[in-house]
Amino acid sequence: MGSRGHYRYHWQSHNVKQSGVDDMVLLSKITEDSIVENLKKRYMDDYIFTYIGPVLISVNPFKQMPYFSEKEVEMYQGAAPYENPPHIYALADHMYRNMVIDRENQCVIISGESGAGKTVAAKYIMGYISRISGGGPKVQHVKDIILQSNPLLEAFGNAKTVRNNNSSRFGKYFEIQFSPGGEPDGGKISNFLLEKSRVVMRNPGERSFHIFYQLIEGANAEQRSNLGITSLEYYYYLNQSGSYKVDDINDKSDFQETIHAMNVIGIFSDEQAMVLQIVAGVLHLGNITFKESGNYAAVESEEFLAFPAFLLGINQNRLKEKLTSRQMDSKWGGKSESINVTLNVEQACYTRDALSKALHARVFDFLVDSINKAMEKDHEEYNIGVLDIYGFEIFQKNGFEQFCINFVNEKLQQIFIELTLKAEQEEYIQEGIKWTPIDYFNNKIVCDLIESKVNPPGIMSILDDVCATMHAVGEGADQTLLQKLRMQIGTHDHFNSWNQGFIVHHYAGKVSYDVDGFCERNRDVLFTDLIELMQSSEIPFIKALFPESLQAEKKGRPTTAGSKIKKQANDLVSTLMKCTPHYIRCIKPNETKKPKDWEESRVKHQVEYLGLKENIRVRRAGYAYRRIFRKFLNRYAILTKESWASWHGDEKQGVLHLLRSVNIDPDQFQLGRTKVFIKAPESLFLLEETRERKYDGFARTIQKAWRKYTARKRYVQMREEASDLLLNRKERRRHSINRNFVGDYIGMDDRPELRKFVGKREKIDFADTVTKYDRRFKGIKRDLILTPKCVYLIGREKVKQGPEKGQVREVMKRRIEVERITAVSASTMQDDFIILHEQEYDSLLECTFKTEFISLLAKRFEERTQRKLPLKFSNTLDLKLKKENWGPWSAGGSRQVQFLQGQGDMAILKPSSKTLQVSIGPGLPKNSRKCCAKCISEVVSRKWCFKMVIYIASQIGKTSHNSVHNSVHHRPAPGYLQAQPKGTGSKMERPSLPQPHSINKERNQRLQPNLDFLRVPDQGAAGIQRQMTNRPPPGGGRPKPAPKPKPQMPQCKALYAYDAQDTDELSFNADDVIEIVREVSWFRGRLQKAISEV
Ligand SMILES: Nc1ncnc2c1ncn2[C@@H]1O[C@H](COP(=O)(O)OP(=O)(O)O)[C@@H](O)[C@H]1O
Ligand SMILES: [Mg+2]
Repeated sequence: MGSRGHYRYHWQSHNVKQSGVDDMVLLSKITEDSIVENLKKRYMDDYIFTYIGPVLISVNPFKQMPYFSEKEVEMYQGAAPYENPPHIYALADHMYRNMVIDRENQCVIISGESGAGKTVAAKYIMGYISRISGGGPKVQHVKDIILQSNPLLEAFGNAKTVRNNNSSRFGKYFEIQFSPGGEPDGGKISNFLLEKSRVVMRNPGERSFHIFYQLIEGANAEQRSNLGITSLEYYYYLNQSGSYKVDDINDKSDFQETIHAMNVIGIFSDEQAMVLQIVAGVLHLGNITFKESGNYAAVESEEFLAFPAFLLGINQNRLKEKLTSRQMDSKWGGKSESINVTLNVEQACYTRDALSKALHARVFDFLVDSINKAMEKDHEEYNIGVLDIYGFEIFQKNGFEQFCINFVNEKLQQIFIELTLKAEQEEYIQEGIKWTPIDYFNNKIVCDLIESKVNPPGIMSILDDVCATMHAVGEGADQTLLQKLRMQIGTHDHFNSWNQGFIVHHYAGKVSYDVDGFCERNRDVLFTDLIELMQSSEIPFIKALFPESLQAEKKGRPTTAGSKIKKQANDLVSTLMKCTPHYIRCIKPNETKKPKDWEESRVKHQVEYLGLKENIRVRRAGYAYRRIFRKFLNRYAILTKESWASWHGDEKQGVLHLLRSVNIDPDQFQLGRTKVFIKAPESLFLLEETRERKYDGFARTIQKAWRKYTARKRYVQMREEASDLLLNRKERRRHSINRNFVGDYIGMDDRPELRKFVGKREKIDFADTVTKYDRRFKGIKRDLILTPKCVYLIGREKVKQGPEKGQVREVMKRRIEVERITAVSASTMQDDFIILHEQEYDSLLECTFKTEFISLLAKRFEERTQRKLPLKFSNTLDLKLKKENWGPWSAGGSRQVQFLQGQGDMAILKPSSKTLQVSIGPGLPKNSRKCCAKCISEVVSRKWCFKMVIYIASQIGKTSHNSVHNSVHHRPAPGYLQAQPKGTGSKMERPSLPQPHSINKERNQRLQPNLDFLRVPDQGAAGIQRQMTNRPPPGGGRPKPAPKPKPQMPQCKALYAYDAQDTDELSFNADDVIEIVREVSWFRGRLQKAISEV
């Protein structure tokens, strides 16, 4: 392809400082050196993430980067890849959304050397997904388990190695399972290859599993004495490698975290105690030593037997016997016979270690099982799998474990090749897409060298054969293995031998293995004697860890560790192949574990063996995106009328139709036999964005309806709280008391020109147009917006310069963080004036919905400061002015607003130079409250009129006045009801609700005279609303009240309950009877003798 061509296909993220290229597909020269240079440049600028198309490269920073905060979680959520710099959250978000939208399982394969950052990456992914996915308490519990499984498994399965202080010594594939709605409601861990030999020995300078150190550092006094805990040096299993402490690890506090994790996972405390008892038991087993006694082994000091025997619940003598001798089956003629064979010192140590390793491994499996049980789901829906397996490693001496680990890594590289390089290219051929092939190293040849069964047999097969024929403790078996390897595969290109072992040319480099111990470890059968020994334990928990049936074990060829890992690796491959794969390739920049330390040759080596160059090449020449026609049609169905809800007709035509609808260049895509191939990510983003926009439109409609529904409930409560704020402090406007809160009176969703001033995901608590008064008391319109964080005042200004000159534009006039507001003041009268006080200067506003605004502001203020918002009510208010350096009022200074008793409900303003006089007539008394007003309900209910009309037609004239009248009068006010005797009532009766607070009751009583003033004899909408939200079953047995006079007006009965949405609407319950006062274009109705007109 042309050297310039690729530029337009790719993107750079916006709004960030550039460092090298974000996506290495953009590199102008594709060589290993330029890749390393780009990574280095970015690394030194603190950018650890870089893309190659969808593959994420992550370079271990060895320091905490600042971009993993809540802000980034917000930023990457639902964002298109080009919007933000490369990040692991972008990958996690992409996976999550793919799963939800495409309903396909996803997996992420995290690969890299030991210490390159795989485990940290896996944790970031789990954390991100848990953070952004929804769900109630049950889901939260699963999330907690998912997150807590990490510290628990790390305690028992991670250790300090020379390469990594927290090296995972096991591999895991963690499937997070989701409901169709995308809530994580289950999970499953598959674990691989715990390096159990670490329990008994390890390289110098390394440690055993963290839990051993945690227990010793963190155990309390009781545990110390029960478990025989002394110092780290006391235990042979810990003291042999001479490393006890790790710089950045606090074993003591980690111990508490381990216990906490067990609690969260639901491991019972007696089980926890058993787990720790076994951990201690293993340490004590290690202190049993043997001496030579006439060619045989004898326990050196018998007192070391007691403690492990005690901790494991086994007989001390039996332990001694099983460590120094073994039952052997031998065949004599046709008969098999069991004989007791005495062991030598080496064999006895081996047996002791075998028991310790088995105990630790089984405890580890118990923990994995416990986690799995806690997250178990009865049926699987969708999942995201995270593979964090321990990385390719080369040590001074590489044994059987390294061989297995490296084999698994070899398999993972093979998947990567299969899916990104090979599959990509094969697919083009299959689909008939024009394409120039790219060369790459396919490591299948190395995989075959290790795992092939025949022709030639692989290393593992040869090893299994040798093990099958070796004796119980096979001396010389390893040498036999080496000979056989030389004979059978000595000429293989990727194989060499040396005097103590063999060399495999892995994809990531040559590794020289020492055959010593290969056969023993591969056999990996726990001697029958040891199983019997543990089955004799008095402790049921320990017994249960050894459930095998010994009779069955004797038959057949036992499975070997090698064949197990081979099977696990291949199962894993097939699981991964069923998912949509994602890749993170971790790079370790140095061996010093220090930030900003760049070892060029080390990075270059990784870049080479990871095949990054080939990856970029394939990517550049190829197509960014491919999808089978049907899936493409499903995903983008929403784009056009013709394709929604589904496309009828030829699928290929449908795809073409969709692509044309967004005007994609014909040279940007190719249609294969079954799939569409899209070249540039931009074209894909175009599709995605159009899709998002369409969904957004619909989502907004749904959201609005939903918000309205939930807001109704919320606002009813808020309204009452708001009344409390002003109670006894400010007179109320007649209609404000019963008014429902709406919050957003502007419709911010449809006002992008205003939305842009507010944070991307900031919620709008309140928005309305208000009048702001300046220092000369001149009023000007402003949009007042309240979010959980800030108060905004948006104004309009004419553009003075540039091409838009003369046009009116929105400008942010003020932005005050909620916590910076010092007080709000208002008069005691019914006017709408409020003053927002702030450190620098105040704002005088006239705001119709001031009660709502103040109460919301007070709530947010308290949330952010844990203090009550100071509210001041006075009829003389001071206004502090902004300091300005020019004009006659340069000094800043202050103004005053005076409130006077006047007439009417409209405020009359009389400004003078320093004072504004506001006069207004009396409003409702200061102690008016919604819940006790129970009134003011003569309102028009518009939206429900049509339903009423229908009903009116059937009711007017033929109304059963009796029942109507019952329904009207059997709903007394709470206080009134208490006076009623119990008895049989009509079926229309409904009991009253208890008062939400006793304080309300008191207030009710106090407010009695005002009820008179308002002439409200009965409960109003608030009471009905309360009934609606929490209505107890109708109580029978009330007496029928005395008949009341017939209603004078036509009546109607509500078919549905309705909660007023506006000041001029009426709230009512289903079956409420409403008197029709007047029919204008709407109906004017009266509920329960309400008196106030609207
Ligand atoms: N993104 C990161 N930010 C900060 N430190 C990291 C990051 N990734 C890795 N590290 C450091 O490197 C160490 C090794 O990382 P880890 O994920 O355990 O490696 P791996 O699992 O590949 O062996 C961690 O303990 C941590 O100190
Ligand atoms: Mg790890």
